[in-house]
Amino acid sequence: MFQIGPYHIDRPVVLAPMAGVTDQPFRQLCRRLGAGLVVSEMVTSDSRLWNSRKSQTRLNHSGEAEPRSVQIAGGDPEMMATAARMNVERGAQIIDINMGCPAKKVCKKAAGSALLKDEPLVKDILTAVTAAVDVPVTLKIRTGWSSDHRNGITIARMAEDCGIAALAVHGRTRACGYSGDAEYDTIAAIVDAISIPVFANGDIDEPIKAKQVLDYTGAAAVMIGRAAQGRPWIFQEINHFLNTGEQLPSPPAQEIRDILCGHLDELHRFYGDFMGLRIARKHVGWYLKTHAGSEAFRKTFNQIENAQEQHTSVRDYFEQLITKEDKAA
Ligand SMILES: Cc1cc2nc3c(=O)[nH]c(=O)nc-3n(C[C@H](O)[C@H](O)[C@H](O)COP(=O)(O)O)c2cc1C
Repeated sequence: MFQIGPYHIDRPVVLAPMAGVTDQPFRQLCRRLGAGLVVSEMVTSDSRLWNSRKSQTRLNHSGEAEPRSVQIAGGDPEMMATAARMNVERGAQIIDINMGCPAKKVCKKAAGSALLKDEPLVKDILTAVTAAVDVPVTLKIRTGWSSDHRNGITIARMAEDCGIAALAVHGRTRACGYSGDAEYDTIAAIVDAISIPVFANGDIDEPIKAKQVLDYTGAAAVMIGRAAQGRPWIFQEINHFLNTGEQLPSPPAQEIRDILCGHLDELHRFYGDFMGLRIARKHVGWYLKTHAGSEAFRKTFNQIENAQEQHTSVRDYFEQLITKEDKAA
C-alpha cells in the first residue's frame, strides 16, 4: 500500500495520535482491529519532564508491535533532535513530529500547529530531527496557521526536501480548531505537490467517507482520530469497505463486550489499578455513547473503585443487552 522507510504498510488506515487516548493499550487494540499504522500520544521534547508518570507511560513501548511510531512535540530544533534520538534509543522505529496540535498548552510554547507560522523554524526543526536519527521521520500538520495563512503546500514541499518520509494533514487551519468542515481540497493539492505518502485526516467517521476522501484527495491513507474512540473496530470496517465495497454490519453486542473487556484488562495491566480504573471510565463512556439509556449505568460505573468490579459490571450490562438483542431477533 505504502512505504515509510523500511516499513511496508499494507492497510491504508492510520490511527491518529491523540493525547490521553492513543496509549499503548488502545494502539494495540486498533492495530489488532485493522489499523495499518498507529501513532503514540505526543511526548514533550523537554526530556527534563520525562520523569513524570504521564511521560513514563507515554514513553513505554515495551512489547509493542512494529513499526512503533512515537510523536514528539516542541519548538526547539536541538531539543527536538535530542528527544528524537532518545526515543529511538527507547525503541521508537518512526519519529513523528507534531505540527498539527492546536492545544493551548502546546501552542503557548510555540510548538504543535503554532510552528506553521514560522517557516524558517519549521525547516530548522525538520533538518535537525532528520539528521539526528537514522529511522524514518514523519510529520503531522494542519493546512496552515489561519485561513489567510494556508501554507500547507509550502510546508509539505519543505518536508519532502528535508527527507520527511510521510506527511499527515489535518484538513483545517490552526485557527479553525475543530470547527467547520475539513478542507479536502487543500489535502488534494498537497498530495499533488509532493511524492511522499500523505495521510488525509479530519472528520472521517464512516467507511464510505474514508473511500470518498481517498478517492478525492489521492492520499495514500486516511488517518482516523475521534471516530476510533469507543469504536476501534472502525479500522476493520473501513478495510472491509475498501476491499469489497460492502458495509460490515455493526458488531453484535457479544463482540463489543469482548473487545471492551479485553481493553479494560489491558488498561488495568498497563496503568495499575488507580490510574487504570480512571482511564477505563473515559473509554467505557465512549463505547456506550451511542447506547440509548446508558447514562444511569455510566454513573454507577464511574463510582467503581475495583478492577474486577469494573469488569463484572460491564459484563452484566452487556448480558442484558445481548438478551434484548436475542429477544428482538
Ligand atoms: C483528544 C485529542 C487529542 C489529540 N492529541 C493530539 C496529539 O497528541 N498530537 C497530534 O498531532 N494531534 C492530536 N490530536 C489531533 C488528532 O490527531 C486529529 O488530527 C484530529 O482529531 C482530527 O482528526 P479526526 O477528525 O479524525 O478526529 C488530538 C485530537 C484529540 C481529539
